[in-house]
Amino acid sequence: MSAPLKVALLGCGTVGSAVLRLLSEQAADLTARIGRPVEVAGVAVRRPDRHPEVPAELLTTDAHTLVTRPDVDLVVEVIGGIEPARTLLLAAMAAGKSVVSANKALLADEGVTLHTAAADAGVDLYYEAAVAGAIPLLRPLRESLAGDQLRRVVGIVNGTTNYILSSMAETGAGFGEALAEATEAGYAEADPTADVDGFDAAAKAAILASLAFHSAVHASDVYREGISAVSATDVARAAEIGCTVKLLAICERVPSSTGSPTHPTGDSIAVRVHPAMIPTSHPLAAVNGAFNAVFVEAEAAGQLMFYGQGAGGEPTASAVLGDLVAVARNRVSGVAGPNATGYAALPTRPMAETPTRYHVSLDVADKPGVLATVAQEFAAQGVSIATVRQDGHGDAATLVIVTHSAPDAALAATVERLRGMAAVRGVTSVLRVEGLA
Ligand code: HSE
Repeated sequence: MSAPLKVALLGCGTVGSAVLRLLSEQAADLTARIGRPVEVAGVAVRRPDRHPEVPAELLTTDAHTLVTRPDVDLVVEVIGGIEPARTLLLAAMAAGKSVVSANKALLADEGVTLHTAAADAGVDLYYEAAVAGAIPLLRPLRESLAGDQLRRVVGIVNGTTNYILSSMAETGAGFGEALAEATEAGYAEADPTADVDGFDAAAKAAILASLAFHSAVHASDVYREGISAVSATDVARAAEIGCTVKLLAICERVPSSTGSPTHPTGDSIAVRVHPAMIPTSHPLAAVNGAFNAVFVEAEAAGQLMFYGQGAGGEPTASAVLGDLVAVARNRVSGVAGPNATGYAALPTRPMAETPTRYHVSLDVADKPGVLATVAQEFAAQGVSIATVRQDGHGDAATLVIVTHSAPDAALAATVERLRGMAAVRGVTSVLRVEGLA
């Protein structure tokens, strides 16, 4: 057997320590699969005293020297955040090392810079663990589906928010109560902002859209709404129309025929993260608790669903090790694997011009002409109504309206107008709807 491939590990938290352990436990199998042994050359951490499980001679605080060491072949980065990860990975690639990263924020913000650096250096840049943890998703998009045309990628890519929404649906609790329970159970971070406000899902959406549509999409291109405004009423209203509420990351190719003042010719891509009602018959509706799933629609393949654990040390380490084996095999063969391509360069469409559907529940006076004046507000904004249900109670009634698809700005403007109407006593629930026939 030839000389070992040497790996530098950046970071040794939950994922890094699982990677180290699995590398050691599965050494013989990994050697057989790769064709050469893999050896850990060093582990860069901030506080070596906190890692008694790592042999002392491997620990270093000098990550830059480690990633550029001549004997290192591969770098695995599990520290997260933009800096110093960005500088370290660029230095590693410039020095000819292939890189495996689990860093969604970095890939979403600096994907083009990193892919260009990988291409310039002729090395690999793999990051399966950056989106949806253990679920094989990025390599299927980048490789298995490279011969197809993707229409949509819709995912539940944040376990914390899916856990909270699942528990709201199960118990009838409000958002605050469900968040407190998720924190207590260890499913939500002490500072849950990145998850609850949709930043984590938006970074993942940018990565998914970039790969799915061969176009550079940054986190800042992604429209984002979190789940803190989702109420127990929203969840109950969803159930009444046979739906459930999920935080969705939606990446779709919008045909040029769907008019866009900003991009009047050619297809564009719409990338958004927001809570939405989906029918309980939709495959994503069955994804509960902290699980993740991604639903893909492609021209030739049709519908595909990827499901599994989106976080946690071992599941994420599985994705990291899968990438490690892939880049190590490429190294042994003296090749680089497929890089992400941005050749299509599709523009991102503003949310205001993105076609969406709304569910709106209103408390109204139950008297002649009210439904007509409400319907008139939809018509005035060019929004077509798909269904209306009225539940009467005394001189009051609840109107539940689901629209057809219209530009998001027209739907939002309609809701604003409804809020100001004398006949409308209250707009009790507004949520976008996805996946209805
Ligand atoms: N915080 C993420 C989640 C996992 O709740 O799914 C890491 O991306």
